[in-house]
Amino acid sequence: MTTDGKQSTALAINGGTPIRTEPLPWELPGAHWIGDEELDLVSRVVRAQSPFRYYGADLQHMVDQLEGEWQTRLSRKHALAVNCGTQALHICLAAMGVGPGDEVLVPGYMWVSCISAVVRLGAIPRLVDIDDTFCMSVTDLEAKLNSRSKAILYVNMSGAPGHIDQIKDLAKQRGLWLLEDCCAGSRGQPCGAFGDMAIFSFQLNKNLTSGEGGLIVCDDDHLYKRAFAIHDLGFSRNAAGRLDPSDPNYQLWGVGARMSELSGAMALAQTRKLDQITAAMRTAKWRIRERLAAIPGIDLRNVLDPSGDSGPFMLMRFQTGALAQQIVEAVRAEGVRGPEGSLACLTLKDWGLHWYFNVQSLVHKRSIADSGFPWSHPDNAFHAQIDYSRGTLPVCDHYHDRGALLTVASRLSDQDIDDIASAFEKVCGVLLMP
Ligand SMILES: Cc1ncc(COP(=O)(O)O)c(C=O)c1O
Repeated sequence: MTTDGKQSTALAINGGTPIRTEPLPWELPGAHWIGDEELDLVSRVVRAQSPFRYYGADLQHMVDQLEGEWQTRLSRKHALAVNCGTQALHICLAAMGVGPGDEVLVPGYMWVSCISAVVRLGAIPRLVDIDDTFCMSVTDLEAKLNSRSKAILYVNMSGAPGHIDQIKDLAKQRGLWLLEDCCAGSRGQPCGAFGDMAIFSFQLNKNLTSGEGGLIVCDDDHLYKRAFAIHDLGFSRNAAGRLDPSDPNYQLWGVGARMSELSGAMALAQTRKLDQITAAMRTAKWRIRERLAAIPGIDLRNVLDPSGDSGPFMLMRFQTGALAQQIVEAVRAEGVRGPEGSLACLTLKDWGLHWYFNVQSLVHKRSIADSGFPWSHPDNAFHAQIDYSRGTLPVCDHYHDRGALLTVASRLSDQDIDDIASAFEKVCGVLLMP
């Protein structure tokens, strides 16, 4: 502030007074809400000395309850808790029978886990560009489908879905599996209601957290039973929770991705707070967004259904990459930053393994095996025609170069919200002046 009480227009990055000096809260949504409820449920598991979900001295059935609540939330027939989102992706694609000779369509703006799930199963990722929703483009998807296409891995990126209903129709017409990767968010029907299978992560950055954790939902009994066997040791379990290798249909190979009762207890307590957490972020985000929308020169992400936005991120684009960089640096200097290690505000160039060409193991077609599998598999020889380097997906490249991201914490005060919006107004008022 100046001595007459007016806000200084000199940018903090140029020596002016910053809008705020107090760090903003960390962006980790569910973590801010951890309290007595989590402690109570976790303590019950500890006191019962029964941390394994399938049997124990005094089983508390935390994971069973968690799955039940998610089935109800999403109106899905089955829910299966697992140890993380990365394994959930692998398990679902494995349940769908994805393997050598198959292509899985994956957007170029995603998380590295989406690609690794495909490659570890011996299939080939086919990259699809995004549109202004920052999710998979329907047009580019149609152009990329071919006789080897087996499944579409649709990612509800950065908290809001794109044209998932159209993609669902397309998958149905072409007889393809649809796997929905839900960062969170909903659109009329909740996110996770569209895909043949859908997955969630409960890692620390997610809307609810158990530190590590994930969940799969689906309606099809066979897919569920395959996923169940694969998530465990390759077999079903009987009513006593013991492995049951008797059914030849479910004598498979397991990845050991069960959820423990301790994680189940945490995730259950957080699930019961999820609507509150999401509402807090969504409200804060749209209050900030309303003010940013009035600033000429900021092009905000197209969110098709604001009521379905889960709120953790605001994505925007500027006219040039240089401007995006300058604005982010100046906004951070105004105090839009959190404690050391948090993200707060950054350019999309700094959004690492969310961009296809930053996944060097993909660009260079790396393998875990000495044999070079899956790239060396004869049924995958067609991959020689596929290039994963930068330039493959022009819209992704465009947003990567000019984009910026603001994280929205789940515990922002009115003052925090005002400061964030004021910082953008102040910075853009100077840097975007005609
Ligand atoms: C889109 C997406 N898919 C999958 C995952 C993997 O989840 P996890 O960290 O639980 O393995 C993440 C995690 O950030 C993600 O953002």
